[in-house]
Amino acid sequence: MIRAMVPPAATASSNLQSSPQAPAPVGTPSAPAVKDPAKDTILTPRFYTTDFDAMAAMDLRPNEAELEAICEEFRKDYNRHHFVRNEEFEGAAEKLDPETRKVFIEFLEQSCTSEFSGFLLYKELSRRIKQKNPLLAECFAHMARDEARHAGFLNKSMADFGLQLDLGFLTANKAYTYFKPKFIFYATYLSEKIGYWRYIAIYRHLEQHPESKIFPIFNFFENWCQDENRHGDFFDALMKAQPDTVRGITSRLWCRFFLLAVFATMYVRDVARKEFYEALGLDARTYDKYVITKTNETSARVFPVVLDVENPRFWVRLERLVHNNEALSAADATDAPAPIKALRKLPFWAANGFEMAKLFLMAPIRSESFQPVVR
Ligand SMILES: [Fe+2]
Ligand SMILES: [Fe+2]
Repeated sequence: MIRAMVPPAATASSNLQSSPQAPAPVGTPSAPAVKDPAKDTILTPRFYTTDFDAMAAMDLRPNEAELEAICEEFRKDYNRHHFVRNEEFEGAAEKLDPETRKVFIEFLEQSCTSEFSGFLLYKELSRRIKQKNPLLAECFAHMARDEARHAGFLNKSMADFGLQLDLGFLTANKAYTYFKPKFIFYATYLSEKIGYWRYIAIYRHLEQHPESKIFPIFNFFENWCQDENRHGDFFDALMKAQPDTVRGITSRLWCRFFLLAVFATMYVRDVARKEFYEALGLDARTYDKYVITKTNETSARVFPVVLDVENPRFWVRLERLVHNNEALSAADATDAPAPIKALRKLPFWAANGFEMAKLFLMAPIRSESFQPVVR
């Protein structure tokens, strides 16, 4: 059954405040400070909007049985009772040293923002197409339910550090990027599947190295990532219901573009925040290589082409992006006037554009001939 539709901000904040562990309302002495959202850069999570009429008009018949089966899984709501905080959280925040605390808060904020961005998009989609496309609307409503839970759970952990993201403010003030439905499919499919691999990789690593589990939230990642996996499978089925999104030359080019954009952004961002991964006993580069390789492999199930991530040149070029990005940050950090800064940054922007073009032009692999490397 579809949950009652309420404005996004209302759901997110009621999730926070209805729980017994919820922080006191902002403005009271014991209330956590509302954290200003991080500055928008190309690396921060985006908020999306799309063509709702086109979504509503979508004919699901080519793959209706699979979509109905996925919706049935969503209805079961396996994680209904999963996201409940336990006594392990008490005092956990105080145990972190200042440096780890800083990078961990950044991680929480980034994760909370991207979960919340998923929630807003799915909620809006389900609301706008409810009359014309009830099956699709119901799937989106279930996914919005999951993402609200994820964002709320992360925000409660931020409250453990005396901070809270103002999700209502984010909703009203973030810039929304418009994408045609098929681009929404590529982008969200990839972010769900990459989310799955990110969470499960951390979970499995910490299972082997419990001494590196710096916060109890990681205990929740195993069931959590199954939500993301199901969400990804939903977009897989949806693209198969709209087969033109994954066939033909234009689709092949767009799939390459989205794979590259998602992988390159994550790599640059994670290497820039390698201290967080170090705190978990992980090497950011090794972790990202694993996540990218697995996501690429998974994507071959639906995308017509995937990237040749076994080619060493791929990683050499990603490293150049990392290097350029460091130079850009260094230029930003100076006190120079804006035009001087821009002038200093220009060569690195150009170099990034060049590397991205070279990466994009690397020969892809046709999915039907894709053989995952045996590890
Ligand atoms: Fe999520
Ligand atoms: Fe998700």
